[in-house]
Amino acid sequence: MAYQGFRIPRDIFFGWGSLEYLKELEGKKAVIVTDKVCVGLGFPEKVQAYLKEAGIDSVVFSEVETDPSRQTVKKGAEFMLKHEPDWIIGLGGGSCIDAGKGMWIFYEYPDANWDDLWVPFTGVPKLRNKAKYIAIPSTSGTATEVTLAAVITNRDVVPNVKDFTLSYEVTPDIAICDPELPSTMPPRITANTGFDVLVHATEAYVSRNASDLTDPIALRVCQMVFEWLPKAYANGDDRLAREKMHNASLMAGFTFTNTALGIVHSTAHQIGAEYGIPHGLANAIMMPYVVQFNMAAAADRYSDIVKAVGDYDGQTSIEGALKFVEYIRDLQKVLSMPTTIKQMGVDEADFKSKLEMLAKNAIADGSTPPNPRTPSVDDIKNIYMCAYNGIDVI
Ligand SMILES: NC(=O)c1ccc[n+]([C@@H]2O[C@H](COP(=O)([O-])OP(=O)(O)OC[C@H]3O[C@@H](n4cnc5c(N)ncnc54)[C@H](O)[C@@H]3O)[C@@H](O)[C@H]2O)c1
Ligand SMILES: [Fe+2]
Repeated sequence: MAYQGFRIPRDIFFGWGSLEYLKELEGKKAVIVTDKVCVGLGFPEKVQAYLKEAGIDSVVFSEVETDPSRQTVKKGAEFMLKHEPDWIIGLGGGSCIDAGKGMWIFYEYPDANWDDLWVPFTGVPKLRNKAKYIAIPSTSGTATEVTLAAVITNRDVVPNVKDFTLSYEVTPDIAICDPELPSTMPPRITANTGFDVLVHATEAYVSRNASDLTDPIALRVCQMVFEWLPKAYANGDDRLAREKMHNASLMAGFTFTNTALGIVHSTAHQIGAEYGIPHGLANAIMMPYVVQFNMAAAADRYSDIVKAVGDYDGQTSIEGALKFVEYIRDLQKVLSMPTTIKQMGVDEADFKSKLEMLAKNAIADGSTPPNPRTPSVDDIKNIYMCAYNGIDVI
């Protein structure tokens, strides 16, 4: 077997108060990439105050939208070319941090070609000629603060597509995971982003690239999500639950940035891009159907998870995997989440007319290769229709 790597940022600060690390930063000028919601919550102001103590000037680009587009990335890169930062700070949810990663590429290489960037591992040219990157997440979900991915939505095609880098070049230099920031998330965003964490750890655990280094972390993350997500959802002021979910998100990142993901993500990316379904929610909807499809290849791995999470002591791995589907559905209920694509208001005729392209794009998605069972286009179409109508995949 080929050798494997385990690559994460060298400097990771976490826990209450970790934002203060910024006071120790060395540099001249920072561009903070964020959105209007974070501005409203006062996050950039707080970051700027710490940077000031470190003697670093800073300016804010706050025009990132949910699932950022190529146009937004280009706009932010122009902003950077004007301000010439030596630090870029992605501050916000996955959308802000990923947009910042994209801007970083075009700041360093204004003539970079979009299609080159999506070539796994070699597509992104060498960065850090002009600036280094700090990621400060304000949601507990994507873990992009430690990952090699930057998801940028291409809205110039139908159906819309989420393209993403798979390049250690865009892994941030520093991640700061202070639970103070995600503590302001309303219950709906807490649930969606928290479910993303469960999907990351589960897909990492059943990935063809899973290893001795990622397995124990993935199992621990699954335990943490089932224990702490309902608490963070029920009471946003529960400081311990907020801290545990922020750590769980970060830890899940350690796993999937080294194993890649699976077809929960590949299928969720397509419906997220085309129908505007939030990333974590799209994952949550797809998850039970994909587990049912993957069971033929990975029942023992799903069974490990259910044993780690509950007091379940089933006899066969298939029983364990079926139990895991029950656990997922129970968690969805506790978090009052929609469970089908139909419930998201997606028109059936429109969905069916795009089904072939959605399925083909899911197969081409970079998250598909490590999935434990190789799907055909027809398999994905079937999974999509089951997820649309809420029917078990058999
Ligand atoms: N790069 C990666 O490794 C990776 C992994 C998974 C997902 N993603 C991508 O990340 C994006 C999703 O990121 P996300 O799930 O963090 O959501 P998001 O960044 O889109 O944010 C969702 C909403 O929450 C708001 N928000 C953010 N922080 C808040 C806070 N503390 N309080 C209140 N509101 C807050 C945002 O303004 C936004 O309106 C998607 O585009 C997805 O494809 C990237
Ligand atoms: Fe995700």
